[in-house]
Amino acid sequence: MSGFPGLPDVDRQLFVPETVWVIEDGRFVELSRAHAPDEWERLVTSDGAIATQVKDGMWPVSSSSAPSVMAQMIESLQLEPGMRVLEIGTGTGYNAACLTALGAEVVSVEIDHEVAEHARRALRVAGQPSVTVIAGDGEVGAPQYAPFDRVLATAAAHTVPYAWVEQTRAGGLVVVPWAATFHPAGPLAVLVVREDGSAEGRFTAPVRFMPLRGQRLPQTVLHETEERWTAAGEPEACRYGVTVSAEGQRVWLDSPDSPVG
Ligand SMILES: C[S@@+](CC[C@H](N)C(=O)[O-])C[C@H]1O[C@@H](n2cnc3c(N)ncnc32)[C@H](O)[C@@H]1O
Repeated sequence: MSGFPGLPDVDRQLFVPETVWVIEDGRFVELSRAHAPDEWERLVTSDGAIATQVKDGMWPVSSSSAPSVMAQMIESLQLEPGMRVLEIGTGTGYNAACLTALGAEVVSVEIDHEVAEHARRALRVAGQPSVTVIAGDGEVGAPQYAPFDRVLATAAAHTVPYAWVEQTRAGGLVVVPWAATFHPAGPLAVLVVREDGSAEGRFTAPVRFMPLRGQRLPQTVLHETEERWTAAGEPEACRYGVTVSAEGQRVWLDSPDSPVG
């Protein structure tokens, strides 16, 4: 058994790399399975997200998501066996393997070529070579494999790429962790694709995901904005606001004359 409630019987250990990253004294440091096997196993069997790639010792850019969050997202997908699923953000390949174990036909796109190659290998070792892993920018979807019954993003978007809607059949679902440019946590958006080619739906429970690489602020800016957010204290005292007009949406700090992102 996977040991994780709500997830199928897929072993996470086959997908998490031998070297992962943990926080020590406020910075990410490497933890290798060879040197700290008990700690590595404790992480992999815990319900936490595990950072698997970190930039400048500070910013996680790839991870194995927390199993309970994966289960929540998979439940939102309302999967049926045989459905064609497009996953954005292959990461370790573990989520793609879980979707496959539930009977889905999975195409998964990963922007980082090395991460994509790791996932392909892990999927082979786990006996799930049927997952198609594409190394590329998931914001364009995978038009050559469309249409899909479901799209599941495992990286956050502040603007849902229309390609995901366009590549989903009418009645299908697009499930996306939605987050403002300046804050990584936000609700999960569950959108139903309509006959007219639009998609609409409600925000559900909050989740925390790293942003799509093309939709993130520079990390220094993000850090500053998070500090400002925290300094604001009460949510009602938040210094950020938003203006929506026919030209689109603009997020600002303190005044509409100071746009961010
Ligand atoms: C939270 S991790 C995904 C977890 C993964 N599904 C798993 O089971 O391990 C997010 C992944 O999205 C990838 N990513 C970010 N922006 C992307 C984009 N535009 N297209 C495809 N992948 C992207 C990152 O490189 C990272 O591997």
